[in-house]
Amino acid sequence: MKTLVILISGRGSNMQALLEAQLPVDRIVVVSNNPDAEGLKTAAALGIQTATIDHRVFSNREAFDAALAEEIDHYQPELIALAGFMRILTRDFVLRYQGRLMNIHPSLLPAFPGLHTHQRALQEGVKIHGCTVHFVTSALDHGPIVIQAAIPILANDTCQTLAKRVLQQEHRIYSQAVCWFMHGRIRLCGNTVTVSEASIHDFVIF
Ligand code: GAR
Repeated sequence: MKTLVILISGRGSNMQALLEAQLPVDRIVVVSNNPDAEGLKTAAALGIQTATIDHRVFSNREAFDAALAEEIDHYQPELIALAGFMRILTRDFVLRYQGRLMNIHPSLLPAFPGLHTHQRALQEGVKIHGCTVHFVTSALDHGPIVIQAAIPILANDTCQTLAKRVLQQEHRIYSQAVCWFMHGRIRLCGNTVTVSEASIHDFVIF
């Protein structure tokens, strides 16, 4: 049985895009660190199995990550997709799932890791912005890049308009990346990702 585990903390729009993408998987389970995450309701309404591991009941990051790993291992997933999962993961957790832990980030990494990416892109005056799907390493918002989508920053863009256009691209490229992975088309070698039968136009989307 091919299983995808999606980790969320909030709204869950990337999770919803993955749920609606008709991915080649037998089962999807959504796990949140936040019992109030809006995405949990969305997943449940779509008939998707959900679980919550509330980070606030653990005294430290290691204990939370151990409980999260125990929950994840229960499902034996092929891939774990972080979709707006706003917890920094321990090195042990990241190493345990090396090569099968993906993240979506709202910038063209390595530019603008961390928070407030759209605001920072506007402040820096960059002309091209976007989003990145990458494999997770223990460095925050860093790791082998699977796919990116780029969009122009327009003269009248605000954080909100930019966030909206980037989010549309996030939904598109995350589904693409997970689909490639589940079809066994992704090969990870050091810091480099190759995808069989894909051209450059599949990776950098304008
Ligand atoms: C998305 O924009 C995602 O890229 C970002 O959080 C948002 C979650 O939205 N993730 C990060 O910043 C991770 N570093 P969603 O809950 O609607 O998918």
